[in-house]
Amino acid sequence: MSDNRVLRMGMVGGGRGAFIGEVHRTAACMDGGVRFVAGCLSSTPDKALASGQDLGLNPSRNYATWRDMLETERSRPADDRIDFVSIVTPNHVHHEVALAFTRAGIHVVCDKPLVHTSAQARELVEAVSAAGTVFAVTYNYSGYPMVKHARYMVRSGEIGAVRKVIVEYNQGWLAGKLEETGQKQADWRTDPARSGAAGAVGDIGSHAEQLTSYITGLEISAICADLTSFVPGRRLDDDANLLLRLTATGRTDEARGVLIASQIEIGHENDLRIRIFGSTGSLEWRQEEPNLLIHRPEGAPQRVLSRGNAYLCDAAKRATRIPPGHPEAFLEAFANVYNNAAVSIRAGRGGLAAPDEFDFPGVIDGARGVWFIEKTVESAASSAKWTTASFVR
Ligand SMILES: NC(=O)c1ccc[n+]([C@@H]2O[C@H](COP(=O)([O-])OP(=O)(O)OC[C@H]3O[C@@H](n4cnc5c(N)ncnc54)[C@H](O)[C@@H]3O)[C@@H](O)[C@H]2O)c1
Repeated sequence: MSDNRVLRMGMVGGGRGAFIGEVHRTAACMDGGVRFVAGCLSSTPDKALASGQDLGLNPSRNYATWRDMLETERSRPADDRIDFVSIVTPNHVHHEVALAFTRAGIHVVCDKPLVHTSAQARELVEAVSAAGTVFAVTYNYSGYPMVKHARYMVRSGEIGAVRKVIVEYNQGWLAGKLEETGQKQADWRTDPARSGAAGAVGDIGSHAEQLTSYITGLEISAICADLTSFVPGRRLDDDANLLLRLTATGRTDEARGVLIASQIEIGHENDLRIRIFGSTGSLEWRQEEPNLLIHRPEGAPQRVLSRGNAYLCDAAKRATRIPPGHPEAFLEAFANVYNNAAVSIRAGRGGLAAPDEFDFPGVIDGARGVWFIEKTVESAASSAKWTTASFVR
């Protein structure tokens, strides 16, 4: 198979009025390696077809249901059917769709949180392992060049042994009862049947968990969580404050972590930030200032590293399109996740093998995210101070 073949993309979700589907289409196709050719874009057949028409889909590949799409696409010749499907529906739909496409041998890109339960995640992991397909989960913050450089610095020992991580995802958009106004993104995110067992901690805390693990290589070994629903009548948490213990295979001690995920912090938009404190220095990165990474070495002035410069690691350089000073941000980082997944799809490198230098978050990362949400909810419901927890692959 050619190394630069243009991949055919299908999509489930992302119709009229949806949020992240348009981001996925833009990101996937940004660098010319992917073409959007098929979709079932909405839960309502009429709206699905109208949405596909808006986007100029060929009528024969504009589907009323995702099952029609799966059946018709898999019966097309191999050199014409979709190579992968992107699943950008609310969370409760992910499991069934991802499982069906994976079992049909079609590669999947799925948004987070992966599914609702660890049992569903396990089923999906087994299906991916059996099918040998590529499965990417769009933890898009790992696509930022300066996040990749932070990972490189931590892993090459530039701040010494990691002692503590403070990671925050601060939002204020759900400080009032937006779900009662008919705002669709707020509506399903505050409904346990569609969102899952957690609110803020599932929606944005899962990004914070993945970012921590991506940069440091550490995973959670214990959680002490306090979840609150500040808005009266809301059924899921809108504010989460967690203490964490973090460790890695072969490491005998534990680092400490603080994770905040909140949607009631008025004035904050998408204020994701991470600070990592090592034995010889610290790092700080903020999503709203994503082209910069602050390094504070012990006993020396702080350095502000900037995207697009020759002094950055190869992964950061590869994830960059334009010179420093011209900002790149959310869409480009999202595109980087797609580009790296596309490398594996073209190479026929699927299954559970950890991605190498063309890294992207996979099904195991998605399963760990689901496990994190479950353990957080369990800890918050318990009167014990700590819930010890160890993610089993
Ligand atoms: N990675 C990120 O930064 C990020 C950001 C936002 C949302 N998300 C995730 O993306 C997913 C979608 O979120 P959103 O905010 O775009 O939701 P949304 O409500 O704006 O859009 C969901 C779309 O899915 C469609 N849909 C629902 N059921 C369907 C079905 N059975 N078949 C076909 N289409 C169906 C809806 O009609 C709608 O078009 C969620 O899992 C969310 O957690 C991730």
